[in-house]
Amino acid sequence: MILSPSILSADFANLERDIKTVTSLGAEWIHVDVMDGHFVPNITIGAPVVKSLRKVTNAKLDVHLMIDNPDKYVDDFINAGSDIITFHAEARTNIPNLLAHIKNNKKMSGLAIKPRTDVRQIINFLTLVDVILVMTVEPGFSGQRFMHMAASKIQALKAEKAARYPNLIIQVDGGINEETGRICRDYGANCLVAGNYIFESKNITESIKKLKNL
Ligand code: DX5
Ligand code: ZN
Repeated sequence: MILSPSILSADFANLERDIKTVTSLGAEWIHVDVMDGHFVPNITIGAPVVKSLRKVTNAKLDVHLMIDNPDKYVDDFINAGSDIITFHAEARTNIPNLLAHIKNNKKMSGLAIKPRTDVRQIINFLTLVDVILVMTVEPGFSGQRFMHMAASKIQALKAEKAARYPNLIIQVDGGINEETGRICRDYGANCLVAGNYIFESKNITESIKKLKNL
């Protein structure tokens, strides 16, 4: 299980410290939530922050773009040193073109779907995708309740992975804790994003260990 702690729940005045804490405990990726106040009703951080984080960690920077017109900004995130760039299937963009652009720039490509988006809408794009991100909360805020219905879409992706795309990473994001993480693992997820469960935990070591060894 790949673990990608979401720094949305970390201390923004101490990102280097918080990232070192989670990577030293075994987290392989760092999840960076980029929000524009249009695609989602919240504003967070942009490419300059990714560029600064690149200097302080070797962990894979897993950038989740919750923005409209992601093609307009994708090069900023490529140049800032992102490793994985995920955008939303619901955003205004040409999906196959943008996936190909990310891959041509030697980055891992990711495609995210909101809880109410039908998984069949993205199956055709799997040849161009390294990571599918299944959102189990409405994007916009950390600390929301896990939506079980959304997680059940993982099963269809697991079947595709088994049949045709053995390297596909199935990532899930939103309301993940020990219990919901296990549900997603059982459905076939192999990458968990977690914000609150890790950074608001009284015992980060335990929380990370639990998610890594579900
Ligand atoms: C929500 C973000 C998530 C969020 C997860 O829009 O995409 O990555 O930070 O936070 P938790 O794990 O607290 O739901
Ligand atoms: Zn996210």
